[in-house]
Amino acid sequence: MSEFAPRILSGIQPTGNLHLGNYLGAVKRFVPLQDEYPSLFCVVDLHAITAQLVQDDLAGQTRSIAAAYLAAGIDPKRAIIFNQSRVAGHTELAWIFNCVARIGWMNRMTQFKDKAGKDRENASLGLLAYPSLMAADILVYRATHVPVGEDQKQHLELTRDIAIKFNNDFSARIAGAGLGTPIRMGEETVQGYFPITEPLIGGPAARVMSLRDGTRKMSKSDPSDLSRINLTDDSETIAKKIRKAKTDPDALPSEIDGLTGRPEADNLVGIFAALAERSKQEVLAEYGGRQFSEFKPALVELAAEALGPVTGEMRRLIADPGHIDAVLRDGGERANEIAEATMRDVKTIVGMLQG
Ligand code: TYM
Repeated sequence: MSEFAPRILSGIQPTGNLHLGNYLGAVKRFVPLQDEYPSLFCVVDLHAITAQLVQDDLAGQTRSIAAAYLAAGIDPKRAIIFNQSRVAGHTELAWIFNCVARIGWMNRMTQFKDKAGKDRENASLGLLAYPSLMAADILVYRATHVPVGEDQKQHLELTRDIAIKFNNDFSARIAGAGLGTPIRMGEETVQGYFPITEPLIGGPAARVMSLRDGTRKMSKSDPSDLSRINLTDDSETIAKKIRKAKTDPDALPSEIDGLTGRPEADNLVGIFAALAERSKQEVLAEYGGRQFSEFKPALVELAAEALGPVTGEMRRLIADPGHIDAVLRDGGERANEIAEATMRDVKTIVGMLQG
């Protein structure tokens, strides 16, 4: 619990097509949050070059994530939609965080290990420092809550560790400059500059799995296109992918417990629940005892109904890049105002000359 004014930030990398996991685990969940809190939704184009430096169409990919935000229902007048590279505070703060975080912390990140593979020495320094830039994305706005899918949990724990270490290392300076905010940590209340951000991970689709293998995450990098539903897929392609999705021979259970050990069934029920805005239990109450031969057509119909308007609107928006660019420019300006104020404080705390 902290005394910071609540603020939401989340981000998506403009690498490859957005898939159903990105949509249900993240974008769709952003939409109601904008009504409750001041919110920023970022397209993290600086993160996009950490794994592969030369990108075919970084600007186009950036626009298409912005289009997904808009098509899903994020209102650019209320929330701030922008691309990361436009706001210099992200990289400035990331540098300071590179000096707060320890190499050991970065080496332990499972996403780094996965992406770097066996040849770690040859991974870019940016890939190793990726989580420090992510912490800066969040903390340059002193965001208190970050909605993400389950796979980002470890990065958010690291963001908290960075905030805690910065607050501790500079506690006297923060207090001296009158920049402390009370933070409740268990029984204790301490003063800090950065909030200890809470992840918002949840719902039936916090971890959408591959349609071909229920033990693997649905991912942009899976070589099989049948493993994922892309937001650019038309309804026929989506129907085909659902029909071909791996299942087991049994009927659906009536209770959640019955999904244990049945990852593919669990995944399809989770997808259904998230698309229908119901709980898994509610879905099982309706479909328990029925075969996949009945459940899959219902899922196809639901997916077409729920995704059709979003994908259609995305296509319409992408055809008007001028509009998207104007949204990103305006969002960048508004984000910059907040980030600049933070950077002035941070430079004061660290003891840098300015002005
Ligand atoms: P990225 O671009 O890989 O994914 C964007 C969002 O989609 C979620 N997600 C999933 N959710 C459920 N099931 C899946 N199979 C699935 N795959 C992806 C991710 O959890 C994420 O919420 N490091 C981040 C980008 C980032 C960021 C940030 C996020 C950079 N700075 C600051 C939040 C705050 C990433 O690579 O997400």
